[in-house]
Amino acid sequence: MRTHQQMKASSLLFPHPRHLEDKEGVFRLHETTSVAAEPLLNAIGDQCAVLLGCKRGGEDILFKVQKEMAEEAYRLTITKNQIVIRSSTPIGSFRALSTLRRLALLTDNILPCCLVEDEPSYSWRGFMLDCSRHMFSVPFIKKLIDIASLFHLNRFHWHLTDDQGWRIPLEGYEKLETTASKRTESQYTDGRTYGRLYTKEEILEIQAYAHEHHMLIIPELETPGHVSALLAAYPELGCTKGPYTVPDSWGIFEEVLCAGNEGVFTFLEDAIAQISELFSDPYIHIGGDECPHRAWEACPACRNRMKELDLQHAHQLQAYMTSRICKLVEKAGKRPIGWDEVLEGTELLGLPKDLIVMSWRGLGGGIEASKRGHQVIMSPNTAGCYFDYKHLDSEEEMGNLGVSTLRDVASFACTPPSLDPSVRQNILGGQANLWTEKVTSSKQAEYLLFPRLMFMAGQLWNPQQTETNLAKREVLQMLCDNLGVLSYRGPLS
Ligand code: ACM
Ligand code: ZN
Repeated sequence: MRTHQQMKASSLLFPHPRHLEDKEGVFRLHETTSVAAEPLLNAIGDQCAVLLGCKRGGEDILFKVQKEMAEEAYRLTITKNQIVIRSSTPIGSFRALSTLRRLALLTDNILPCCLVEDEPSYSWRGFMLDCSRHMFSVPFIKKLIDIASLFHLNRFHWHLTDDQGWRIPLEGYEKLETTASKRTESQYTDGRTYGRLYTKEEILEIQAYAHEHHMLIIPELETPGHVSALLAAYPELGCTKGPYTVPDSWGIFEEVLCAGNEGVFTFLEDAIAQISELFSDPYIHIGGDECPHRAWEACPACRNRMKELDLQHAHQLQAYMTSRICKLVEKAGKRPIGWDEVLEGTELLGLPKDLIVMSWRGLGGGIEASKRGHQVIMSPNTAGCYFDYKHLDSEEEMGNLGVSTLRDVASFACTPPSLDPSVRQNILGGQANLWTEKVTSSKQAEYLLFPRLMFMAGQLWNPQQTETNLAKREVLQMLCDNLGVLSYRGPLS
């Protein structure tokens, strides 16, 4: 283990706390260190004992309730004899525990005395993992949730359906397993297939683990485009009725859900109801990105729908679909989220106001959405949020489509100073996305994620100047090594 035993808390802590005072001395954490917690925080007391390798019983580490603090806020005091954590909720005390864990990892359990008063700048601090293009194992996803939560991230957006594979089990739709979850690996000549569904048990295991780490899960059901796998299983949901295949290539596919077929909405209502039951958190992502309109233009049922609604252009059907799907999500008791294309073609039909817009093609979509009264999550591929992109513009680097340097990520601002306060007030926060067309293994995923995910987490918790962030690079490298993740070690840009 590489450690920094003599250093002060201020040179080790990342994300940067709101308020930090270094103090003289150290607290030595060992297996006989004891933990106590007031009743509301009992579960955190247990978790602390497990995560820091100490025991319950005495008050060497004490979790206390302090009313009137914000939900995620905490106050952490490390003195030579005692560690005291104050918060109003288990979430706040978990954030404090994460800060303690990072310090312990960096100092081989010799914690520098300090006072930390901390709370986040943004409520939405997320990361997305594409498990359609390539699947990742339950232990690996849990490892990512653990590390993400260690840096105060609090949203796991789980991309579970796309052209190249469907991963959510639904009762009554057996062909999701037999057809939609598998693709032929056409680079091989032996007919082998790739993929499967996650089981309900696996999903529930990951969800329970995320909740222990105070992270919400947002399942994504892509609509109305990026649905080739679903159409291969249920061709009646497409405009031409197929036959369709689950592709083993990447891009944007012309065949999408038919906007004129009521059967599509019957399927979606059932799917959304089942997904809402399986996933207990308040949000469902309904996709909405990269949906071509050519199939709708050529389809008699879609043209009838346009006539019925008095629409001039097929792209306006996307607003129709978004609105109907949002209603299904609301009926299931959840809040819909969509990629920023949901703002297009909405002149006649508008958009439900409770739809949260996730802005990926720059900040512009998010700014427009905010002006139109929507809440917004910023995840611009133009500003470092796409982690499938290379770390550097170099042939030697793995990655796809673009570049997100460490400097880009360390500079990310989901609400730049130029934004009008009226726009800013609707911006919940931001997130990083890892698309996995070219990411076939968890080690590759780690290389792309770390340390970028840590810089992203810092900018969402308490944004700093770029150079202030980059000064912590060595500390983050040490944490990557101590956490056992592969990481990028090259130039900043
Ligand atoms: C996206 O990257 N297509 C949301
Ligand atoms: Zn159609």
